Amino acid sequence: MQLPRYIAHRGLSKHAPENTLAAIQAAADAGCEWVELDVQCLGDGTAVIWHDESVDRCSDGQGTLIDMTRDQIRHLDVGSWFSPDFRGERMALLDEALSLISALELGVNLELKINPGHDPVELANTAVHRARQVLPLDRLLVSSFDMNALESARAQDEKLALGLLYEAIPRRWASDAQRLRPVSVHADWTQLDQERLIEIQSAELALLCYTVNDPERFASWWDHGVSGVITDDPALFDSRYQRR
Ligand code: G3P
Ligand code: CA
Repeated sequence: MQLPRYIAHRGLSKHAPENTLAAIQAAADAGCEWVELDVQCLGDGTAVIWHDESVDRCSDGQGTLIDMTRDQIRHLDVGSWFSPDFRGERMALLDEALSLISALELGVNLELKINPGHDPVELANTAVHRARQVLPLDRLLVSSFDMNALESARAQDEKLALGLLYEAIPRRWASDAQRLRPVSVHADWTQLDQERLIEIQSAELALLCYTVNDPERFASWWDHGVSGVITDDPALFDSRYQRR
């Protein structure tokens, strides 16, 4: 799999409300080839594209996702908090997001987001099953902070591309990799250290960094061989950073 150099974080979240169909469309319109999206399940098992544990920050409603049903979330306005231009935007179901990604011929880094009270196995089984039905394997990268979720994803398909997601990369990353056979490690770039980077390169895995919105401060990490970035605005990066 050819991993992307740039991934639009939560869709093109600099210019559209994060994790919405509008943000996916905006990424494609801006020429991005890959988007990162967070997926989790509602209380009734419906898989939706959403980051937070609650709907409070990014909608006109209140409440915890795990306590909500598909009917309830469909009444929320998830665009106005960002800008009046997006008034009436609805929370995206996973199926809707996958259909749009497929139609736009994008790739997706699908993050299995395990907030408190959520079942990693249920989420992995639901989300990976649906994604594999809609997208070719070379345009699907499944990542998670939750190694149990990744284990369930791996059990579904030996060929599925997995990304181990960490804040600071822990010492145990190599044993996680041995067990889960990922293609990439994803790390918070502000907590990156060169020793771990060299270990990951030696294992011939890609290293993707999030959430990189400061190209100047990040520049030296490219020179150290970081493979790609997850960014709110890929346009921040210029031709100096194109794939070598
Ligand atoms: O997938 C990388 C990054 O999105 C993880 O952090 O909190 O933005 O989901 P967060
Ligand atoms: Ca994410």
